[in-house]
Amino acid sequence: MKFFIDTANLSDIREAYDLGVLDGVTTNPSLMAKEGISGDEKVRAHYKAICDIVDDKVSAEVISTDFEGMVKEGKELAKIDDKIVVKIPMIKDGLKALKYFQSEGIRTNCTLIFSAGQALLAAKAGASYVSPFIGRLDDISFDGMELIAQIVHIYGNYGFETEVLAASVRHSMHLLKCAEVGADVVTCPLKVITSLLNHPLTDSGLATFLADHAKAAGK
Ligand code: E4P
Repeated sequence: MKFFIDTANLSDIREAYDLGVLDGVTTNPSLMAKEGISGDEKVRAHYKAICDIVDDKVSAEVISTDFEGMVKEGKELAKIDDKIVVKIPMIKDGLKALKYFQSEGIRTNCTLIFSAGQALLAAKAGASYVSPFIGRLDDISFDGMELIAQIVHIYGNYGFETEVLAASVRHSMHLLKCAEVGADVVTCPLKVITSLLNHPLTDSGLATFLADHAKAAGK
């Protein structure tokens, strides 16, 4: 299972990378805006800075919503670095763009997936990844995790190569359930990754080990 970090914050990306468990990064226009990044040149430079930190995939989302615009923008994004994956919204022109990028050998991540039907379309159009949003479904009282399991099952039935990238992951239980149902990738904030470290028995066990060592050493 791959771990991606869902942020455009360079210090969080560096921290996750330094932990040694990071496989990639996802961003979206809201996350870029949160870091105050705007304007073509600054956006490109920021993506390059992210690519320079990590070893693997960095999803960069297009703003255009028409086929020609998405193709133009996606090609520009893909030129920034080999690690770039062009993120395309699940809309009609987006489907066409997925197919186009597949034929050009450019990797894509189809975002804003909220149903198995959308995931099936994205896989048929040749998306490299699909991003179903767990937390946002949970927010409106639908079971986001059920969607992940459904997509994993459907893709398995037909051997689709599209990877299931579970997104909108809000806490460690989301992440662990994704691992149970076989999502290929999870993307989440840094705090979700670091929360996996925590266990009170680890803390108390370590405190005891250190205290016993100090006692034996006469400290
Ligand atoms: C994924 O690519 C999205 O950027 C992200 O996971 C959305 O998460 P949110 O619902 O917490 O904003």
